[in-house]
Amino acid sequence: MNLRFEPSRGLSGELRVPPDKSISHRAALIGAMSSEPVRVERYLHAADTDSTLAAVQALGALVELREGEQNVVVRGTGLREAREPDGPIDVGNAGTLLRLLPGWLAAQEGRSFTLDGDESIRRRPVRVAEPLQLMGAELSARDGRFAPFVVHGTHLRSISFEMAVASAQVKSCVLLAALAADGATTVSEPARSRDHTERMLLRAGVGIHRNGRHVTVVNTDELLLDHVRVPGDPSSAAFMVAAGVLVPHSRLLLRDVGVNWTRTGFMRIVRRMQGIVLGDLEDETGELIGDEPVSDLDVAHGALEGTVVEPEEVPLAIDELPLVALLGCFAEGETIVRGAQELRVKEIDRIAGVVDGLRGLGGEIEATEDGFVVRGTGGLRGGTIDAEGDHRMAMLGAIAGLASREGVEVVGMEAADVSYPTFVEDLTGLCS
Ligand code: S3P
Repeated sequence: MNLRFEPSRGLSGELRVPPDKSISHRAALIGAMSSEPVRVERYLHAADTDSTLAAVQALGALVELREGEQNVVVRGTGLREAREPDGPIDVGNAGTLLRLLPGWLAAQEGRSFTLDGDESIRRRPVRVAEPLQLMGAELSARDGRFAPFVVHGTHLRSISFEMAVASAQVKSCVLLAALAADGATTVSEPARSRDHTERMLLRAGVGIHRNGRHVTVVNTDELLLDHVRVPGDPSSAAFMVAAGVLVPHSRLLLRDVGVNWTRTGFMRIVRRMQGIVLGDLEDETGELIGDEPVSDLDVAHGALEGTVVEPEEVPLAIDELPLVALLGCFAEGETIVRGAQELRVKEIDRIAGVVDGLRGLGGEIEATEDGFVVRGTGGLRGGTIDAEGDHRMAMLGAIAGLASREGVEVVGMEAADVSYPTFVEDLTGLCS
């Protein structure tokens, strides 16, 4: 579906962005691993997280939709009792499901599971084979690293694993596998990444603690999570923040947004660029805590300055870096992102995608091996952008259109359904 976004004269009003995708995936999976029912308040219903509900059902969990589908109750099978499904598990477009689910499956002794997904998933490296093999699991992947991917469950041993890249997905896979392993497992990440799995496990009564970049989890017999409340997704909110900051005369109030420190790197970058985003962003804490903090965000238009995003900030803003490039087109001076080579293995190569996409709209932006350099020219002309099936590229195109001089046509707007099915409706509501 192609959709045109005309220059806007200002966005205003209040919005509750959809529930968090990362936390919804984890609530469904950890719910399926639990022995008692888990009630999830405000589960995200989008293509990616619906794939997770279907997957846990195929593995024997019962899923009940309540209160107009807003809430979900997951009756799990327990840690070691996943059922072997009749056919492959379809993860759709969901990288998070592809990486986290094998952590649970690897511990299902004597059972085998095949994971497969769409074309984009089949191009992305599976990445979790190495730690799971070190724990004793047997795995086979196409060409050693791509889906379809087979996991043969076994009795796992605990490990100390040093991750080569800061990936919350790989970290979470190891933490989930560690629950059923012998003894305590430690995962060390080169830089801090989102910690929703750690927080949820802590709430489920698991012995888990963090010491700097090391996370240690103690094995257990059962998980005791009874209730999860999913906050608004800061990554979805980021599109509305960008729109509010870029379009003159805008003033927006975004309600109940998750402000976990490991997810709000983008909001801090916007503030550094002199963008107006008011709200109680969580401070970094030394301690691991179980809550997911929320805040309203008050956003207003204002002039922006270029900035440099350094490698250690990258995992804290990974999905929002394309928006940093968009803001950079409107800012005074240069905006540089470094150390973001991970963007090359997202739904598409997002360095190439964002550079080609924004150049097509009149932006002055160069790709580097691990990021990009944008020269601010005070705005964007507009034109056409192809989402190439990537939800975040589709939404970036829409925001670029509202802020541009001539409007933007987005090719493949339906890609937004992967994480934000009501995106166009919500955006239109703020423009009227
Ligand atoms: C996610 C982690 C990130 C992010 C993805 C969701 C998660 O991936 O890009 O959209 O829910 O754990 P990596 O941890 O692999 O960078």
